[in-house]
Amino acid sequence: MTIQLLAISGSARRESYNRKLLAAMVEGARAAGAQVEVLDWAAYPLPIMDEDLEAAGIPEAARRLKAALRAADGYLIATPENNSGYPALLKNALDWGSRGLGDPPGSGMVYKNKTAVVAGATPGRWGALRSIRQLREVLGYLGCIVLPDTLSVIDASKAFDADGQLIDAKTRAMAQAVGAALVRATLALKS
Ligand SMILES: Cc1cc2nc3c(=O)[nH]c(=O)nc-3n(C[C@H](O)[C@H](O)[C@H](O)COP(=O)(O)O)c2cc1C
Repeated sequence: MTIQLLAISGSARRESYNRKLLAAMVEGARAAGAQVEVLDWAAYPLPIMDEDLEAAGIPEAARRLKAALRAADGYLIATPENNSGYPALLKNALDWGSRGLGDPPGSGMVYKNKTAVVAGATPGRWGALRSIRQLREVLGYLGCIVLPDTLSVIDASKAFDADGQLIDAKTRAMAQAVGAALVRATLALKS
């Protein structure tokens, strides 16, 4: 059985450390046999969630995002930390995914029984520990099975080389292991 994962960075920044961390997680997941789509934020120009917009008709980007979220068996997520929480980019996307299109409003049916792992990176001394914890809680509320496997990369400005690879081999192996763990758990759940 092949499983399909969606890889989501909590930052759309070109040189995002989280995109780079996510790439290592994706390597691990692909090596473990999963098919992985890396979400390209440029393809999903989402407005800020607004129930008036929703009532006027779900925006096309939100419909496509929801289809991508629905098609995946699980989610690989790497998030920065903004003022002790996870970024609005992610929250907005999760909120659009939780609404409309035939699901009962607010039910988050698209996420139900999907697996997820959450890691993160920041240039700070604690990395993304606080945003990871917050995001795990919200994903759990939405019905995801969030694995305990995680990684918080600290001092991210020094952690990656010019090719975007994690310099420390142990940290890179840990990121890959987080990706592989998601594949194993997702396969176990589906079999
Ligand atoms: C509005 C804002 C708030 C931030 N707050 C925090 C924070 O609470 N903790 C932290 O470690 N870094 C914080 N940062 C720094 C980001 O973690 C850093 O810019 C990070 O590199 C962004 O992720 P990216 O490299 O994937 O784009 C903040 C950045 C912004 C723009």
